[in-house]
Amino acid sequence: MIKKKLVFSGVQPTGNLHLGNYLGAIKNFVALQKEMKCIYCVVDLHAITVFQKPHQLQENVLETVASFLATGLDPNKSILFNQSSVSGHAELAWILNCVSRIGWLNRMTQFKDKAGSEKEKASVGLYIYPNLMAADILLYKATHVPVGADQKQHLELSRDIAQKFNNDFNCKNFFPMPEPLIPKNVSRIMSLRDGTKKMSKSEDSDYSRINLKDSADEIIKKIKKAKSDSEQIPDNLKSLEKKPEALNLINIYSEITKNSLDKVLNEMSGKEYSFLKTKLSEVLINEVTPIGKEIKKLLGDKVYLGQILKKGREKANIIAEENLKNIREKVGLI
Ligand code: TYM
Repeated sequence: MIKKKLVFSGVQPTGNLHLGNYLGAIKNFVALQKEMKCIYCVVDLHAITVFQKPHQLQENVLETVASFLATGLDPNKSILFNQSSVSGHAELAWILNCVSRIGWLNRMTQFKDKAGSEKEKASVGLYIYPNLMAADILLYKATHVPVGADQKQHLELSRDIAQKFNNDFNCKNFFPMPEPLIPKNVSRIMSLRDGTKKMSKSEDSDYSRINLKDSADEIIKKIKKAKSDSEQIPDNLKSLEKKPEALNLINIYSEITKNSLDKVLNEMSGKEYSFLKTKLSEVLINEVTPIGKEIKKLLGDKVYLGQILKKGREKANIIAEENLKNIREKVGLI
């Protein structure tokens, strides 16, 4: 059977998007829209698994759409919408809550990290969050899911849920097995302050990340302060691997300049990290600040952003309703 290829991915509207979101996921979203039908979702229902101020949440949804557009997503090619506006996400999530197993959710490392020692106080939503993510993907029968490495385990769970649904309801191949598309070298951009932690919106220090809205001065300051190494840049990857912060900077430089790590090490070996930092700031300013300017400009026209969401919701809802009709039938709901 020939599978119709369909891409789905989501981004949480929790404020400033950063270089990790961009290199790990969104840049890939933009490339994929040239090849396949794509659906990109601002996952506001995921965001409220942790308390969000209502007004701020609305602002953040609009800012995330603005960021999608500013990075090159084209609403005429891809469907862009927010999750809560298509009620099928919540309905399918409930059905999948009944397919997914508690033992599977207990293995999710992201819940353990996010809930920390306060597990008993975490919302139930945070615990079953990966089932909602499976619903997002399966609602559209998506075949490809571009994400960073931190979402790999959730994607594996989505596949387990799809497989169990197909088995339980005796409908082989009803849900396709969604394939993760994880970039090779930038699947996990690390914090600028600690090379063992991923770059994240939730880390306290803003110096740990480059935000898409950062100015040239902020980028220069953050890269200057970024942790690196007191020794000179080595000529081989093996030596660099022992220095996670330095490796992260080289990796970002290699991705943005589209030069292989070996080529970058050839160019840089024997030099001080200050040399790399100057070059890295330059390429980051070129790549990121035009996006930041565009985000700020788009945020000046919230009516337009609302229209993009409305059009996207209408298109997404047609696919979702058609699939839900079949899903309800399979489950025996009338
Ligand atoms: P979120 O909002 O945390 O992140 C959005 C995307 O950015 C990637 N990412 C990174 N990639 C590389 N390095 C980093 N430091 C980094 N930080 C974040 C994430 O892997 C993600 O691809 N649960 C998801 C959103 C979601 C979703 C979905 C994704 C909801 N439903 C269905 C795919 C399909 C999340 O919280 O992503």
